[in-house]
Formats: sequence, C-alpha cells, structure tokens
Amino acid sequence: MPANRFNGFTEYGVGIGLRIPHYQHIFEKKPVVDWFEIISENYMVDGGRPLQVLDQILDQYRVVQHGVSMYFGSAQPLSREHLKRLKTLVRRTNTPWLSDHLCWGSVDGRYTHDLLPIPYTWEAVKVTAKRIRQVQDYLEIPIVVENVSSYAEYHESEMAEWEFLNEVVEAADCGILLDVNNIYVSSQNHSFDPLTYVNSVPSWRVAQIHIAGHSKYRKYILDTHDHPVIDPVWSLYARAIERCGPTATLLEWDDNIPSFDEVHAEALKANRYLKRATVPNLPPGALNKVREHPLETR
Ligand SMILES: [Fe+2]
Repeated sequence: MPANRFNGFTEYGVGIGLRIPHYQHIFEKKPVVDWFEIISENYMVDGGRPLQVLDQILDQYRVVQHGVSMYFGSAQPLSREHLKRLKTLVRRTNTPWLSDHLCWGSVDGRYTHDLLPIPYTWEAVKVTAKRIRQVQDYLEIPIVVENVSSYAEYHESEMAEWEFLNEVVEAADCGILLDVNNIYVSSQNHSFDPLTYVNSVPSWRVAQIHIAGHSKYRKYILDTHDHPVIDPVWSLYARAIERCGPTATLLEWDDNIPSFDEVHAEALKANRYLKRATVPNLPPGALNKVREHPLETR
C-alpha cells in the first residue's frame, strides 16, 4: 500500500546538490551517492560544457531537478519559452518530480532574483495554485513546491504560512518540498513554533525534504547554506520523517563549500532518522485522493 502519492520514490535516500567545485572529485573518484539535485536553470542551454557535465552525471547517478525562477506566486503570465526549455531538460534528466519555490520574484518581466514571500491571502492561493497546475499540466510530471525562508510579513495576510501552504497544495493538487531549515529560520524571524508548522503539513504530499545550515545574527537569522545543520533543525527533520515516513532528503550547501566528502558526510547524518522511519498511517480519504489523480498513473 502506498505511503503517499510519491511512494515510488521513498527509497531515494540522501542526495546532495551538484556543485562545480565537486565536479573533478565526482568524475575521478566516482563516489556512491544516492542522487544529485541540480539547479535546472544552470542546464537550460542548447549545448556546451554544462550539458556535457550533466550527461556524464546522468550516466552514473539519479538526478532530481530543482528550480529557482518559476515564481509560482507572481501575477504575470508564465514564460512559454522558459517552460519549453524546462521540458527539454526534464526529458533529458528523467527527473521523477520537479521542485521550485512557493514565492514571487518578478513584476512586468523584471526579475528580482530573490525568493520573496507571498502574502498569505485567499486570492494568492487561487493565483498560485492556478500557475502550479499550468506548469504541472505542461511538464507532465509531479510538481512539488518548497517553502521559502522569509524576513518580512504582510499586514494583508489572512492565514499562517503553513495554512497557506496547505491551501495551495490542496488547490493545485501538487507535492511539497519541505525545507525544515527554512521553517526554522522563519520561525526565529517571525516568532512562531516551528513544530506547529511541521505538524501541520499534509505528510502524504511531502515528496522531498531539504536540510541546510544558516547564519545567526543578533536580531535575525539568514538562510545562507554555508554551515553544517544545527541540532534544532535536525530535531525538526526527525519529526518530519516521523510524520512523512522515508522521504528523499537533500542537503543544501551553496557558499563556502567544503570538500565533497565533508558535504556528503553531513548529508548522510540524515540516515540516523531515515533508517528507522516507518511508513505512516494515512488520514481517511487521502488514498482515494491519490488514486483519483491522473499523476498517479504516470
Ligand atoms: Fe531549500
């Protein structure tokens, strides 16, 4: 019996982000890694070195695509050209799902290159879910949306962030990339209990989890991905795994990147929790929902 709609992927284990400083080590040593996460935008090109590297990786490893510029919460129409290029890459990598952020970041064709929080309103639920469905329908693979870390809130918000996430994924019928470090960072910046967040997400929709380190300043925390994971984030991760069961897990390390072995060793600490994870019981009706959905047959 499936644990969730992404049940086929619960054996994915622990991955790390594919980063340029590690290329040489990976090609020379061929380390055993469960999977690599790539940033889609780095490989949406017509040819050249990026695609040569990607093809070499694909020869030996499983790859999952993660995007940084879909801006599901932006109001402007989706870029057809961007989606076309993304679909070409999806076919090349055979990614089992595609993740991007639950955020906005573009207005009238201008891009901020930031992952900005969305006002948690019913109107935004509608707009965001519609865009996710459009992308999901076009790419013909499951879309999973990631919660971002945030440093600002809106007076207009009509619900908590985790309620907004729940409403969006329900309306879009998509998956979740639960970033427990982002939850921790935002909980410190906005004074909420991070466990309430983790306990509130629909566990059967969580396809992937992100863990990462961050930087702490006197009055706020910045999501810098340049440190090992701290214990309170591991505790949130443990609770998420307890609720979601075995879930594909990815360590993000994007700045001051240490050696491949150091990053991989930090990521593999997740196995402490994954190895003892059990398949959770589903809430009544959850499986029917999964079976009704056409994605299940793909
Ligand atoms: Fe993340």
